[in-house]
Amino acid sequence: MENKKNLEYLDKYYSLKSIGNSIDYLSKKIKRIRAHVNPFKFLDKHQFEGFKNNNPIIIDIGCAKAEFIFELYKKLKNYNFIGFEVRPLMIKYLEQEFEKYKNIIFFSGNAQNNLINIIEPNLKKNIKIEYIFINFPDPWIKTKHIKRRIINKEFLNQIYQLFEKYNVKTKIIIQTDVDFMFNDIKEQIINSKYEKYTLFDKPIFNIQTKWEIDSIKKKKTIYRLLI
Ligand SMILES: C[S@@+](CC[C@H](N)C(=O)[O-])C[C@H]1O[C@@H](n2cnc3c(N)ncnc32)[C@H](O)[C@@H]1O
Repeated sequence: MENKKNLEYLDKYYSLKSIGNSIDYLSKKIKRIRAHVNPFKFLDKHQFEGFKNNNPIIIDIGCAKAEFIFELYKKLKNYNFIGFEVRPLMIKYLEQEFEKYKNIIFFSGNAQNNLINIIEPNLKKNIKIEYIFINFPDPWIKTKHIKRRIINKEFLNQIYQLFEKYNVKTKIIIQTDVDFMFNDIKEQIINSKYEKYTLFDKPIFNIQTKWEIDSIKKKKTIYRLLI
């Protein structure tokens, strides 16, 4: 049954979404950027000692073109922003487009390999990580690809242990338009050290991501939770 649902979804997802988006001409500067890449192929490891101010940080994992970060930036003064994006060409685009914004930085590669080492030096300096957003994570539908999903118990436990070590609380916001993926995310959370989550209805700060805007046009349901 679940496989049938996955297949139906695969069909809809790749035929509807990707025809528009995977052949994705992001800007005149960059030609074609693949819609999906295997995160395990990108082993980039980064160091980051922090921004030049002590303002709180908001993180967006899988930021794509960073429209969401930019909307946050316009609305929230006195914050710093970190975007993680696995697609290397997208990172090139972001570095060019956001060059002049000194309180926005992007890191390439699989966010699972970098989140902790990027956050920890900031926590050591008592800098607050206010939010981590994981907006519309790739669902990786095929059973053999499930391990590529960004949200899993092990990754959640790493995050939990880091915040526990520094005795801080950071809100993690997860949003998706994929019902079976949302169920999986909830299960991963329950089995992780977080154990529980809170559902909510409206976009935080009233800002929709690019993916959300497209999904709503297609009359899809958006599922949201906070841990
Ligand atoms: C479906 S898109 C959503 C984009 C954006 N968050 C939005 O809501 O409009 C998922 C994004 O996550 C990125 N991504 C997937 N796995 C990742 C990983 N392990 N680390 C960093 N980025 C990842 C993809 O390249 C893609 O840009």
